[in-house]
This record gives sequence, structure tokens and C-alpha cells, in this order.
Amino acid sequence: MKIIGLTGSIGMGKSTTAKMFADLGCPVFDADAAVHTLYAKGGRAVPLIRAVFPDVVIDGAIDRKRLGEHMRADPLNLKVLESFIHPWVGEMRVEFLKDAQASNAKAVIFDIPLLFETGGDARVDATVVVTAPARVQRERVMSRPGITEALFQMILAKQMPDAEKRRRADYVIHTDHGLEAARTQVADILERILHT
Ligand SMILES: Nc1ncnc2c1ncn2[C@@H]1O[C@H](COP(=O)(O)OP(=O)(O)OP(=O)(O)O)[C@@H](O)[C@H]1O
Ligand SMILES: [Mg+2]
Repeated sequence: MKIIGLTGSIGMGKSTTAKMFADLGCPVFDADAAVHTLYAKGGRAVPLIRAVFPDVVIDGAIDRKRLGEHMRADPLNLKVLESFIHPWVGEMRVEFLKDAQASNAKAVIFDIPLLFETGGDARVDATVVVTAPARVQRERVMSRPGITEALFQMILAKQMPDAEKRRRADYVIHTDHGLEAARTQVADILERILHT
């Protein structure tokens, strides 16, 4: 079973492209979604965070905006939080791989925004980077509710530049030519990965 790391900067089309791999029979592990389940009602992170920041829990779930305020107020908070979240996500990843193996999947996709930044590329068989011109990326991100120019710039600053990601990638998918064009690239790349 091939393990494929799918990455790309904010708004470049990771989730959309992951869905295309899923349509071809590849189970997808979404790192952001995994963290969301930990923060959701009944999630594993809720009791822990409630004990330290009671104001962050609303209707039994973590309010990510309020949590973010505490994290920005003291970088140590973020370090401690991550020391819990990372191993939990790791356990979810192991479970996911077991299930995929049991279902005889030929390849699995890890949608990981900071794949290269965290050295995760060393733990996958192939890396796929989604990309689009900066102008397209900006239009996509700025059309989302709640985004500001400052927030967009802050997120971009935390991410490796798109050109560097493309340079490191085993495969690049261009997402600015529409869904069908991307689907064709996905099918082609999956074939190549399965046969290497
Ligand atoms: N191949 C494509 N053709 C046309 N539009 C696309 C394509 N891929 C993605 N998009 C559009 O770009 C926007 C961002 O896509 P998506 O949410 O998949 O990006 P992302 O990389 O997962 O973003 P984030 O970094 O926030 O997780 C969406 O509006 C989506 O419809
Ligand atoms: Mg996404």
C-alpha cells in the first residue's frame, strides 16, 4: 500500500483534490479534520482544555477562536497543547492505516497542510503538491467568510513558499484549469505512483 502525502499552501486545492483521490478508491486522512474531532463535543481534547481554559468550551465543544486567543497570549500554552494533540492525531493515523490495510486499499492519501514544514515528507512514499498562481490563491482565500488580509498574510508567512513546495514535490497538480483537468492529473499520478 502506497502512502501519498498531499500538500499545498492555503487554498491551493488540497481538500478538493483529496476528494478526487478518494473517488478513485484511496482512503483519505485529513489532519485538520482529525484535530476537529478532538475539539468537537465528546472529543478527547475537551476535558483537558476545559480544565485549563473553562471559557473556551461552548456547548461541550472547543471554540477554536477563543482557544486561538489563549494560544497567542502565551506561546507556552501552544507548546503544551501541541504536546497532547500530536500524539492523539498520531494514534488516529495508525488506526486509519490499519483500516485502510484491512480494506485492501492500494494507496492512501494524507492531506497535510504543513507536510514539508514538519518533515512529514520523509514518512510518505510520494509527495503531491497542489498549486495555482498566487492571484488565484488570493481570490479563493479572500472570498472565504471571516478572512482578513492580515490573517491571510499571517498564514502565508507560516507556510513554505509555493515555489519551494513545487521544487520538493514528486508530483505537482495544477488546480487553476478546472476540476476536470485536475481529475485527469490525479488519475495519471495515481497510476504512476502505483507502478513505481
Ligand atoms: N481543480 C480545481 N478547479 C477549480 N477550482 C478548484 C480546484 N481545486 C480547488 N478549487 C477551488 O479552490 C478553493 C480552495 O480549495 P480547497 O478548499 O480544496 O483548498 P485547500 O488547499 O484544501 O484549502 P485549505 O488550505 O484552506 O485547507 C475551493 O473553492 C475549490 O472549489
Ligand atoms: Mg483543505
